[in-house]
Amino acid sequence: MTKELFKGSILFGPVPAVLVTTINQDGQPNVFTVGWTGVACSHPPMVTIAVRKERLSYENIRATGEFVINLTTRKMLKMTDFCGCRSGRKIDKIKHFGLELEAGVDVAVPSLKISPVALECRVYSLTELGSHDLFVAEIVRNKVDTALIDKEGRIRLGEAGLLAYCHGEYFSLGRQPLGTFGHSVARRSVRQARQAKHNQGGKAQKS
Ligand SMILES: Cc1cc2nc3c(=O)[nH]c(=O)nc-3n(C[C@H](O)[C@H](O)[C@H](O)COP(=O)(O)O)c2cc1C
Repeated sequence: MTKELFKGSILFGPVPAVLVTTINQDGQPNVFTVGWTGVACSHPPMVTIAVRKERLSYENIRATGEFVINLTTRKMLKMTDFCGCRSGRKIDKIKHFGLELEAGVDVAVPSLKISPVALECRVYSLTELGSHDLFVAEIVRNKVDTALIDKEGRIRLGEAGLLAYCHGEYFSLGRQPLGTFGHSVARRSVRQARQAKHNQGGKAQKS
């Protein structure tokens, strides 16, 4: 493999393209697309989103200290791109797509009904970095589409057709997993048992 050198830039992916809902101080909801998002900590569950100061959503998150990450799927592709190209300052994106909202459970911010998984987040810290500011937030509640939960209470997230974003292009995850966590170091019998278990999905943690 021969490599060419480039100056440092965000040549990084795939990342999830998520729709983040927010509200302003009067409770008016907005939605925007975020690609610069990631997991920061398992316990307590923390995520990050990097947001430019000029976004309406930035203002909303600063005002309320809350937001909801709505995972996106193949059928949400068009709205995911659109909500990342138009500001809520110019157009009511929720009305434009006729998006149905579901009331927040532990936060005041609603989630998108069309999204199979919504993570209710409360801001933990804000770090100014440059073009973007980094919000670290605790996930205080997960809402999961019951269609993704099997009889044993396992969440089959791999079946949601989640969207990924990679260097300017959108992809959707294939249904067939390539492997399971730890398969590279597990004994064959363990590997087979894990694969069988994995095929049934991950166990949901009920609250
Ligand atoms: C795929 C994609 C990913 C994006 N990721 C981010 C991001 O991580 N942070 C950000 O500030 N803007 C991001 N944007 C741009 C905003 O979503 C966009 O400027 C949006 O119009 C802001 O809406 P608002 O002003 O209603 O908050 C992304 C756009 C797209 C299409």
